[in-house]
Amino acid sequence: MAELNPAKEGGQAEEITEMVCLESDLKEGEMREVEVGSHKVLLVRSEGGYSAVGNLCTHYGATLSKGKTGLMGRAVCECALWEGSCYRMMCRMHAVKIENSKVFVSINKKDLEKTRRVKEMGCRVAGDSSTVLIIGGGPAALVCAETLRQESYGGRIIMATKEELPPYDRTKLSKAMNVKADSILLRQLDFYQSCDIEVWLRREAVSVNTDEKMVTFQDGSVQHYDQLLIATGSRSGF
Ligand SMILES: Cc1cc2nc3c(=O)[nH]c(=O)nc-3n(C[C@H](O)[C@H](O)[C@H](O)COP(=O)(O)OP(=O)(O)OC[C@H]3O[C@@H](n4cnc5c(N)ncnc54)[C@H](O)[C@@H]3O)c2cc1C
Ligand code: FES
Repeated sequence: MAELNPAKEGGQAEEITEMVCLESDLKEGEMREVEVGSHKVLLVRSEGGYSAVGNLCTHYGATLSKGKTGLMGRAVCECALWEGSCYRMMCRMHAVKIENSKVFVSINKKDLEKTRRVKEMGCRVAGDSSTVLIIGGGPAALVCAETLRQESYGGRIIMATKEELPPYDRTKLSKAMNVKADSILLRQLDFYQSCDIEVWLRREAVSVNTDEKMVTFQDGSVQHYDQLLIATGSRSGF
């Protein structure tokens, strides 16, 4: 049964505390998914104590309880296991207390709100005639374009890529067979339209003239820029 601690009289409950298991349910080094309210939480028993974090990895949302426990009882994400690389530390910890051999976890709804990574996007502003040209269509190019709009840049943003698709998640290519193009797009096309980011597909840049602030493309077309980002990954080809 959940215990709710209202923020103020008549206000919405800010903290939910729930008994999630008995102490004896988890052995040292073990972890499991538990539910507090309707939120999925990863409970880990390690070094004689307990810790609780959201059960979805902050990288790409993999379920942490399907991974392993690693050093100092931290969850090793299965995504990281696939790549044999690092593991991620989850930064938002929930409070855990033990009473009469029962394990209670408290989550703060306001904290959960704060961790949502949603930032408002701006769009083009009339009268701003500047142009940012981004060469490349990978995650670096996308983050640049998005951040500019989030930070109220009101000029023209052009993302020119030689790909046939707008930015997609390359990491998924080595994780599953028969991946459909639509399912790995980092953003749908209407997103770019809604915040006035021009995406030029099949446009390979072949040279940059920094004196003239001009980029030439393989089809012979030329584009002027005020600011240029070369986000072509490890190889630009020019
Ligand atoms: C199969 C695969 C699996 C991966 N798995 C993982 C993983 O599990 N975890 C992880 O952390 N990383 C992984 N990576 C690496 C990750 O995808 C890269 O680190 C990341 O994509 C780099 O982003 P970027 O935007 O800098 O460059 P890129 O993603 O390389 O994007 C560069 C873009 O620029 C375009 N471009 C290049 N030259 C030109 C030009 N002259 N004109 C116009 N456009 C041009 C390219 O076509 C491309 O779209 C994987 C990569 C691959 C290929
Ligand atoms: S989803 Fe967890 S490290 Fe990638």
